[in-house]
Amino acid sequence: MSSFLLRSAIALLFWFGVSAEAHKYNIPAKVQPGTAIADLVYSSSLGLDALKISSVTNTSWDWWYFDVVSLNPEDRSSFTVVFYTASYNALPTFLPASDAATWVQIIGSYPNGTLWGSTDTIDTNGATVTIGQDFTEGVWADSGFSWTGSSSEYLISIDSPALGVKGTMSLNAIAPSHLPCGEVTNDGTMLLGGQVGWVNIIPDALAVVDLVVGGEPFKFSGSGYHDKNWAGVPFATDVQSWYWGHARFGPYSIVWFDMLDLGGTEHVSAYVARDDKIELASCVPNAIRVRPVPDVYPPTLSTPDPTGYQISIESAPKMNVTIGSLVRLVADIPSYGRFSGNVTAVVEGGEVYHGTGLMEQFKLTE
Ligand SMILES: *[C@@H]1O[C@H](CO)[C@@H](O)[C@H](O)[C@H]1NC(C)=O
Ligand SMILES: *[C@@H]1O[C@H](CO)[C@@H](O)[C@H](O)[C@H]1NC(C)=O
Ligand SMILES: *[C@@H]1O[C@H](CO)[C@@H](O)[C@H](O)[C@H]1NC(C)=O
Ligand SMILES: *[C@@H]1O[C@H](CO)[C@@H](O)[C@H](O)[C@H]1NC(C)=O
Repeated sequence: MSSFLLRSAIALLFWFGVSAEAHKYNIPAKVQPGTAIADLVYSSSLGLDALKISSVTNTSWDWWYFDVVSLNPEDRSSFTVVFYTASYNALPTFLPASDAATWVQIIGSYPNGTLWGSTDTIDTNGATVTIGQDFTEGVWADSGFSWTGSSSEYLISIDSPALGVKGTMSLNAIAPSHLPCGEVTNDGTMLLGGQVGWVNIIPDALAVVDLVVGGEPFKFSGSGYHDKNWAGVPFATDVQSWYWGHARFGPYSIVWFDMLDLGGTEHVSAYVARDDKIELASCVPNAIRVRPVPDVYPPTLSTPDPTGYQISIESAPKMNVTIGSLVRLVADIPSYGRFSGNVTAVVEGGEVYHGTGLMEQFKLTE
């Protein structure tokens, strides 16, 4: 074989090798008829960022969520970007009534806690998600919103004349990915509870937000985070309430989930990492307990926003985490709240740490 042919053959093999690994999903701009199937078992050949629903229908929703929160408790800067492939019918809390299937949403808070962009949800002209070997990319067409990432680094790029926002958000992971019940393993369950899936791709990251908003710089660094939730049924089918959040204090990064389904069963997930190693990743029922302050549980649509949260992690490393000084990071609606807060953690053995966190709650029933 001539060296030209040999090189061509190698190039071709390489191309097939890469294309066999890469999955490209094209998501149409409009909601599709029928029902959808949701993936709830992890497959390493598809990856954590893969689309998890077979199509966007009136019963299915899927999101890629990214946030950054300042680590300085006196600086209430935060920024959240969510990429949705979801229908209004399945996810009415977050989306305007429409037959669009692809959306982006951003919300930021200034150092004084004042929000900007709190109604900035826009539909886009379809989307593509590409998953390669340790490579992921999402482009929400004609919106100026995209991400590229690997297992440890993400760059979100925004150039949106429509919203008057331009710049980047970067995440550099300092804590390993996990599934609801443990480390990322092939065939591991991605079921959080009810029929809701969850994967936590970046539990904590060194993050930088570098934007220009309405002509003014909006820049800060802090703790970054990336996850995905989805279901093949409308959000309200299974969920009565849920508490989710993440925080960093001292050497620890934690992530919590405490969801109450409509049957009254609590589904939890507890995660603690230290020095880029997982110390706890568990979904056993008593691994963690998250309660609002004051402790009105379960909360209903008419329960006011809490003033804080009390989190107890009851598997090693045991800790009690108290969150206060909540600042609401989304518009004031009864069913949904997202907050930043001050964190004080007491870890078994007596060490006390201070930090910050970002958290959310749903309450959907009366
Ligand atoms: C989704 O539901 C809405 C409201 O019931 C309906 O108007 C629309 O045609 C449905 N879309 C599809 C694709 O079935
Ligand atoms: C908060 O900060 C923003 C941005 O600097 C400013 O526009 C706004 O007036 C401030 N709000 C208050 C209540 O001080
Ligand atoms: C959060 O706690 C710090 C002290 O750790 C305090 O200085 C700051 O004012 C608190 N933030 C709010 C919004 O109360
Ligand atoms: C957490 O608080 C409970 C109740 O006050 C207490 O029994 C437990 O020992 C505390 N755990 C830690 C790790 O401090």
